[in-house]
Amino acid sequence: MGFFTKDIKTMEDMFLHGLQDIYYAEHQITKALPKMIDLATNRDLSKGLSSHLEETRKQIERLDSVFKKLGKEPSGTDCPAIDGLIKEADATAGEIADKAVLDAAIVASCQAIEHYEISRYGTLIAWAEELGHDEVVRFLTTNLNEEKAANTKLNTVALRKGVNTKAASAA
Ligand SMILES: [Fe+2]
Ligand SMILES: [Fe+2]
Repeated sequence: MGFFTKDIKTMEDMFLHGLQDIYYAEHQITKALPKMIDLATNRDLSKGLSSHLEETRKQIERLDSVFKKLGKEPSGTDCPAIDGLIKEADATAGEIADKAVLDAAIVASCQAIEHYEISRYGTLIAWAEELGHDEVVRFLTTNLNEEKAANTKLNTVALRKGVNTKAASAA
């Protein structure tokens, strides 16, 4: 299914495509996070990312439940947006030698990913409500709230746990 083959005819098709997109994205995130956790030096940052990795695995289980409730097989579809965000995160990290600066870059890359997820879940919830899929809204809302909390935690790590201050004083 893809936008260019015009397989999406109804809003229902589009909703399903959106679910497959975020399903793929969450899987890619579980593959990308361990690398960022390894690279992070700040303890609050690595701990925060580790707990979000666990949350992300649970989010995938919730998406499995969403597909099940809709009577569909869980499946993903290529999401060039998340691939791009992860690729950029890797490329940026590869360019940075200083550990403190790298921590600030990891926060920035992860926040871009969280904002992407927040945007997608927000849309999916609105579409689910419009289409009368009230039985799946709860699962999607839990995921959305976790993404928002993860983003807030990243703000705290950057602004109040020393990540940005240390990065700024790196020679
Ligand atoms: Fe997620
Ligand atoms: Fe997330």
